[in-house]
Amino acid sequence: MVNLGDIRRQYTQGRLDEETAAADPMTQFHAWFEQYRETDPLEPTIMTVASVDAQGMPWQRVLLLKAYDGDGFVFFTNYDSNKGQHFAANAQASLHFFWMNLERQVEVQGKIEKISREETEAYFHSRPRESQLGAWASAQSRPLDNRAQLEEAFASVSAEYAGNEVPVPDHWGGFRLTPQRMEFWQGGEHRLHDRVEYQPLGNGRWKKQRLNP
Ligand SMILES: Cc1cc2nc3c(=O)[nH]c(=O)nc-3n(C[C@H](O)[C@H](O)[C@H](O)COP(=O)(O)O)c2cc1C
Repeated sequence: MVNLGDIRRQYTQGRLDEETAAADPMTQFHAWFEQYRETDPLEPTIMTVASVDAQGMPWQRVLLLKAYDGDGFVFFTNYDSNKGQHFAANAQASLHFFWMNLERQVEVQGKIEKISREETEAYFHSRPRESQLGAWASAQSRPLDNRAQLEEAFASVSAEYAGNEVPVPDHWGGFRLTPQRMEFWQGGEHRLHDRVEYQPLGNGRWKKQRLNP
């Protein structure tokens, strides 16, 4: 057995207080996200997205957050992928943001829905052309015989759309997660971490609650 029990550090960077945390969790998220961005991380929009399949098995994968506002969090993917199929059957998901350099994590649970086709089109056409072609070339999550098969698919769609705008594939687009619970975690000394949970009260108001670490 590889024993990792001696690897430990103290978390000393900050405090989170349920009294001074923002009244709205998206305002709190925005404040923390901006602070994280200022630390100049390699890929600031990274998050882990969990879905649950028809057998109740949880799945996770890293995705990039592409937008957020008071309505929730938006990301883009293949609607026929594993996660797309999970969301079609169970339109609930959890997002997880882990910002180790600030000793913080944010956890979100909520409802999933497809964004409008207009929103997807606007984002799709802002992507580099090669990424647009990649969305056509990849039957995400389906088996491939080898790498060459993928590269042939890419070459084929590149030739098909040469000189023309690449249309948005029907199987590709954005999802929005509307939060139903959010939790902010700030590491503390002696494992006495700060946790503040937000639960909706209706009419856009939220209850804040400190949790045991
Ligand atoms: C840094 C990073 C960023 C990623 N960004 C995305 C993304 O924005 N959209 C996406 O569909 N997959 C993205 N992926 C790939 C996913 O993690 C995953 O492999 C893919 O979406 C298939 O997931 P599924 O089979 O569970 O549906 C990213 C992976 C990494 C490591």
